[in-house]
Amino acid sequence: MTEAGAVPSVFVTRRIPSAGLDVLRRASVPFEIGHDDPGTAAPRAVLLGGVARHQVLLCTLTERIDVEVLDHSPRLRGIAQMAVGVDNIDVAAAAARRIAVANTPGVLTGATADLTFALLLAAARRIPAAHDYTVAGRFRAWGPELFVGAGVGPGPDGRRKTLGVVGLGRIGRAVVRRAHGFELDVLAATPRAADALPGVTVVPLEDLLARSHFVSLHCPLTPATHHLIGARELRRMRPDAVLVNTSRGAVVDEHALVRALREGWIAGAGLDVFEREPELEAGLRELDNVVLLPHIGSGTRETRDAMAVLAAEAALAFVRGQRPRHVVEPGRLPA
Ligand code: DGY
Repeated sequence: MTEAGAVPSVFVTRRIPSAGLDVLRRASVPFEIGHDDPGTAAPRAVLLGGVARHQVLLCTLTERIDVEVLDHSPRLRGIAQMAVGVDNIDVAAAAARRIAVANTPGVLTGATADLTFALLLAAARRIPAAHDYTVAGRFRAWGPELFVGAGVGPGPDGRRKTLGVVGLGRIGRAVVRRAHGFELDVLAATPRAADALPGVTVVPLEDLLARSHFVSLHCPLTPATHHLIGARELRRMRPDAVLVNTSRGAVVDEHALVRALREGWIAGAGLDVFEREPELEAGLRELDNVVLLPHIGSGTRETRDAMAVLAAEAALAFVRGQRPRHVVEPGRLPA
């Protein structure tokens, strides 16, 4: 697994798509892959050992890059994260040590927005349960009440439904574009007034929650958005509403969400992300009004390849002492 030797070199915490590794190979940059099992996260000991041997870290969201990791490598100069979200990285601690951090925004926007709609439709139309029913051989005849769900586009009376988008960054905006195709009215909650878009009404979060048939979360996980959607917010939502989360699990208080789904405060949810991945909140898997996915928002072949290439290019830039395309924290990079 080791292609290390000369310095500076890159520690790739776990195997990433070969399109990314090829960037390092073509540049003759030595690298080491820490963990080679695609189904599990890199063990902590592997991470700590690897980071001590290299100057640049190429990591994924399954590794916690905290003070212990940062202090394990006196020579660490850059962290290239193969994801847009960097909530697994203590960026302030990296800044204090003048370690640069880069991420991979943009390339996963479309894939994540598509998956948002897949979840929204799957939850509203009860697609996983209907699939299981069909596969189990229980489909005997068309039925007037068979898997009746909630419509997304305008109903027979022409009445439009409302999507509430929380966060109007790249992915939130891509969701808005898709929502217009589905003839949904769109509300948005955003801390930045300048984010306003044509065809979107910006409202306070509490109004959005009270008015939307579908609520979709697209904010990064920060101290300000941790448990942004808790019991109080869920109680504000419509009883026929569906909540979709493709951002980060901890934006939602999952304990409160299980109660909301069980007690009918809201009608359903589609979740691609969880607070303590891969662990599921107690009670979640027993509910029949949720659709649960294993964090695959960016999971298309072309997107994952593009993320790996972007992260590897950032690692390469750190090796060369250059500035990568997407800098979260500049560390000691040139301006
Ligand atoms: C990201 O890039 O933050 C996504 O969650 C990874 O799919």
